[in-house]
Amino acid sequence: MDTTGLDILAQKGYKLEKKLNAGAFGEVFAAVASNGDRVAIKVISFKTLSDEIREVFLPREMCALIFSRHQFIVPVYDIVRTEEKIYTFLEYCNMGDLFNYIVRHGYVSQALAMLWFYQISNAIDYLHNKMDVAHRDIKLENVLLNDMIAKVTDLGFAKCCRDNQTNSVIMSNTFCGTPGYMSPELLYQVPYNPFLADVWALGVCMYIMINGCYPYNSDDPKLMLEEIKERLHDKRYRQGIHDHVRWFTNKMLVYDPQKRPDVKVIMKYYSDNKYKTNLEWFPISAEEGELG
Ligand SMILES: Nc1ncnc2c1ncn2[C@@H]1O[C@H](COP(=O)(O)OP(=O)(O)O)[C@@H](O)[C@H]1O
Ligand SMILES: [Mg+2]
Repeated sequence: MDTTGLDILAQKGYKLEKKLNAGAFGEVFAAVASNGDRVAIKVISFKTLSDEIREVFLPREMCALIFSRHQFIVPVYDIVRTEEKIYTFLEYCNMGDLFNYIVRHGYVSQALAMLWFYQISNAIDYLHNKMDVAHRDIKLENVLLNDMIAKVTDLGFAKCCRDNQTNSVIMSNTFCGTPGYMSPELLYQVPYNPFLADVWALGVCMYIMINGCYPYNSDDPKLMLEEIKERLHDKRYRQGIHDHVRWFTNKMLVYDPQKRPDVKVIMKYYSDNKYKTNLEWFPISAEEGELG
């Protein structure tokens, strides 16, 4: 972090501790106060941003961040802007992001995956149905863990996608997101319903959590589309996945967006289904490994 950044931290009563990550658009640091409290600071430099990101996406991210208040969305404490950079102070999530967690531990138990899914989908339901905002970059790297509680972050591509006058969905033409999480309609690059593309990405998150691998090979979008059409993911579930968990995950990985349920319906399936599995869905202390 440069000296201006360190000065800003000092003014707020924090000392730089370490760099947590360098993301696509900036760097994230941890800082600590004299009483031991930690924060995360996301630093975005205007210089490295294209005009479009600076003028369109960044203001949206800031706006979405400021107005989103939800128990499963990483809260923002403060935003400081200088000529060159923007510093966002966020709740520090002490267990890092969920992608790294899976890389380190492998797949998680179905019970733990369902618990985290519950938290993530609640945050997305809030964005979709209370804020009219689609996240548009749902992936495990953008879900953080604070004391094992999953919280959604990185609203860099988030956008208000509902016309308030007609209450209709505003289709997206920006093909943003991350290849492995892209829905077929995004891969085809046709205007898409961003809320339903989010549901697909939620399905990919669930799939990775329980299997420890991506549902589709995303090196080449054409091949990925072929794999999706053949529903290859369904043949690649790990042994021991409960029928209902598989059914539930497949409900999100539906090829035709018009037949894909929205997040409200997914949450209803979630609660209807949890009684059918004999899994302990809300473990008090979640254990690694197979429960189901
Ligand atoms: N509040 C936080 N607590 C702990 N780690 C964080 C926090 N915010 C971000 N990170 C780490 O930094 C990474 C990048 O942050 P993110 O907000 O997703 O930025 P980008 O837009 O660059 O992807 C995350 O995937 C995570 O590993
Ligand atoms: Mg990110």
